[in-house]
Amino acid sequence: MERKQFLRTLGTGAAFALTFPCLQGCSKDSDNGDIEEIPSGVDFTIDLNSSEGAKLADNGSFILKNLIVVVKDLNGNFVAASQVCSHESYDQVRFTTNDGGIFYCDVHGSRFDLDGAPLNQVDSTPAKQLKIFNTELDGQILRVFE
Ligand code: FES
Repeated sequence: MERKQFLRTLGTGAAFALTFPCLQGCSKDSDNGDIEEIPSGVDFTIDLNSSEGAKLADNGSFILKNLIVVVKDLNGNFVAASQVCSHESYDQVRFTTNDGGIFYCDVHGSRFDLDGAPLNQVDSTPAKQLKIFNTELDGQILRVFE
């Protein structure tokens, strides 16, 4: 009886251990993010002294806020771009320090320079400009706006 209970417990635990990470991994692997509208009417600030703003301390760092990728580029300049890709509107645009610092979307592989100009074409449709937002630094307050 004790052995049976042990095996039953082990079976449930093993099934959970095998299934739970798979479910998380599988859903994440197949997740292209969400399709969103390109942000408009944008105007917000980030206090660089806050815990959120501290993530922008290093050149090459970025944060995501209000569907915008806010970047401190490799030269220490602040740049902001739509997190919503100009290709098929998935919210997967990110910044990478590769290639001198560019925006990219790994849903279909689009890449953009810091001005939002497309660097490649991922299918037969013409590559489109990634929306870029203005940035303005006043002391430790970074404003992102249109
Ligand atoms: S949606 Fe970004 S590359 Fe296609």
